[in-house]
Amino acid sequence: MSNAVKISPSIMSADLAYLARDLHAVRNADYIHIDVIDGQFAPNLTYGVPVVAACKRATDVPLDVHLMIDNPDDHADWFVDAGADLITFHIEAARHAHRLLAHLHDRGVKAGVVLNPATPVCMLESIIEDVDVVMLMSVNPGFGGQSFIEGTYAKLNQLVALCREHDVHPLIELDGGVSVSNAAEVAAAGADLLVAGSAVFGAADPHRAVAELRALAESGLSKAGA
Ligand code: DX5
Ligand code: ZN
Repeated sequence: MSNAVKISPSIMSADLAYLARDLHAVRNADYIHIDVIDGQFAPNLTYGVPVVAACKRATDVPLDVHLMIDNPDDHADWFVDAGADLITFHIEAARHAHRLLAHLHDRGVKAGVVLNPATPVCMLESIIEDVDVVMLMSVNPGFGGQSFIEGTYAKLNQLVALCREHDVHPLIELDGGVSVSNAAEVAAAGADLLVAGSAVFGAADPHRAVAELRALAESGLSKAGA
């Protein structure tokens, strides 16, 4: 049975020199989050297709590829070919988000869109029925270890309301500043796929950190439903 709240450790905070070791440590995760940044869309240059392919060889956990790149329309296929299971791209960067979502579905992967902290939830109005995942950035994209932006809770509420209005149930993914101190609250507010970089790979025991985040989130969720 799949977990009620899913955890996606971000390898941005892993030790790339020991990537296979770190991926093995988090084999209890639901996804592996891979932040692809091109130095244009967001201020960092991380890694690309070869690292996604390397993760595919090193783990059986599905790969959640977060494209922080300009023009994902022209480059998303590379990441499907490399083994991505879920691809999210920024609504601010896509030229034809609707077409790209349909294309990714045709290619057999899950597909979703991401909103930066400054982008309003109403941008999703016309495509909410076409996504498997909506990801809200709870930090500005670019780096691990930043503080959670509290205004994200209001956006989560708006997103949950929009999904209800359309009677759809995409996974609601949250990226940035998620830790043991807020996992229960964000899950109670509707997030059901939590990205965690520093909170997992910065912990003494990343395997235990994944389990702990999931347990806290699921307890927050059941309290919210009670
Ligand atoms: C930021 C990335 C995040 C980052 C999260 O641009 O999209 O996925 O790794 O890191 P933490 O969990 O440390 O905030
Ligand atoms: Zn990310």
